[in-house]
Amino acid sequence: MKVLFATSEAHPLAKTGGLADVSGALPAALREIGVDARVLMPGYPAAMAKAGKLLEIFRIKLPEHGETALLVGAFPDSGVPVYFIEHAGYYAREGLYQDNSGHDWPDNAMRFGLLSQFAALLAGPKTPLDFRPDVLHCNDWQTGLAPAYLHFESAAPTPTVFTVHNLSYQGIFPPEELKQLGLPQESFAIDGIEYYGNLSFLKAGLFYASHLTTVSPTYASEIQTETFGAGMHGLLAARSQDLTGILNGIDMREWNPATDPHLVAPYSAGNLAGKAAGKLALQTELGLQVDPGTPLLGMVSRLTTQKGSDVVIEAVPQLLRLGVQLAVLGGGEAGLEIAWRRLADAHPGRIAAVIGYNEGLAHRIEAGADVFLMPSRFEPCGLNQMYSQRYGTPPVVHKVGGLADTVTQATLGNLANGMATGFVLDRLDSESLVSAVNRAVILYRHKLAWQKLMRNGMARDFGWTKSAHQYLGVYKKISQT
Ligand code: ADP
Ligand code: GLC
Repeated sequence: MKVLFATSEAHPLAKTGGLADVSGALPAALREIGVDARVLMPGYPAAMAKAGKLLEIFRIKLPEHGETALLVGAFPDSGVPVYFIEHAGYYAREGLYQDNSGHDWPDNAMRFGLLSQFAALLAGPKTPLDFRPDVLHCNDWQTGLAPAYLHFESAAPTPTVFTVHNLSYQGIFPPEELKQLGLPQESFAIDGIEYYGNLSFLKAGLFYASHLTTVSPTYASEIQTETFGAGMHGLLAARSQDLTGILNGIDMREWNPATDPHLVAPYSAGNLAGKAAGKLALQTELGLQVDPGTPLLGMVSRLTTQKGSDVVIEAVPQLLRLGVQLAVLGGGEAGLEIAWRRLADAHPGRIAAVIGYNEGLAHRIEAGADVFLMPSRFEPCGLNQMYSQRYGTPPVVHKVGGLADTVTQATLGNLANGMATGFVLDRLDSESLVSAVNRAVILYRHKLAWQKLMRNGMARDFGWTKSAHQYLGVYKKISQT
């Protein structure tokens, strides 16, 4: 089975969120079960610099895009082959999707149109490579046009999987872009890529792909409803026979407290001393009062409405009354960044907020916090709640999407039978959040029960193998290979 995996970001080459983690780990897991999976992504200079010695495969001048080249390299750790589309005008910039004041790049339609076009070219009959994939696997709106290109190019197009990592990013552009993107006028229809008078890359993927997947079973059913469907629920419900929810895994090597190079001291379920040392080191690093007994709540996320950090902000006065500390790492919407900075200034020693992107600190918060907060409004899968369980940091989550599928509520019954791994809110508001944190703090004071809860999470297998087999099942079904 040969699979081309098209994506706009992949860890450790380029990352803004979980899509990169998945794109870095899933192709490697697929290769481990015998699939020849290769990645295609934009040639951001910083990404290409990390992919070893690059070989140029071809260079062409495209009428709509200008000079473009295809190069091949490999992921530094896994060795997975990666094809880069080199285009200085499109990809040699700092932000992947936005400038540093948070505005989308004005030419995103062309930037990701090119990615989609190359995905279709390399997967189709005219590929210049000696690698002709049985399946093209597309991810999120940035690759959504690829199934459309394949559809209009051939009567028997290469089968495609389109994975929805987040339905709220839709790649919507004015209809005038259609021509430049080289798609036929007939594609601009309700049964096509038209979306309320504009064109939508996401809808193109949802409409033209042979099979749809999303990153958790619960999100797969949620997105067929108006509440979570972001306007696409009708189409998704109509295609429900072709829609599968496959839970993300995590990279169990990279996120392993026993070998994590970002931590001051390694630890494991059998020896938790390193975790206590990590907490003190984190308190020191962030200027929090150094106190082993104060429960420390950690949060690492993009600061957007999705992640519910506004609810945490609203709850801060009551949370502080419970005697906890807060360590927050994130970047995103200006209003949320300012609010966190203000809270940290107002409560020195109790609240620390680091605004920006910091990989090492993300690991140290997962490890050094006692409780991890992830009260997302919606969450297609979510990786941080899995990292936190693996690091013995029970999460507080809202019962949606992948959070509902990966965290087991600390009820008395679940504590007794060893299933409990965290705290689950049925409703998202500051009152429910405070009450869940309160339950966590009470249990935290019962050292043995708390350690049991930590160890339950640490024992969970969140590895990729099971999901990789499920993807292989989908590939086989649509390609009859
Ligand atoms: P999403 O993809 O919606 O942002 P996920 O939980 O799936 O959410 O993945 C987020 C990933 O991005 C995790 O690997 C997390 O550690 C990382 N991350 C998010 N914000 C930051 C940040 N400010 N610094 C470092 N890593 C971050
Ligand atoms: C998205 C989602 C997140 C998911 C990630 C990887 O960014 O918001 O829930 O874990 O993609 O699939």
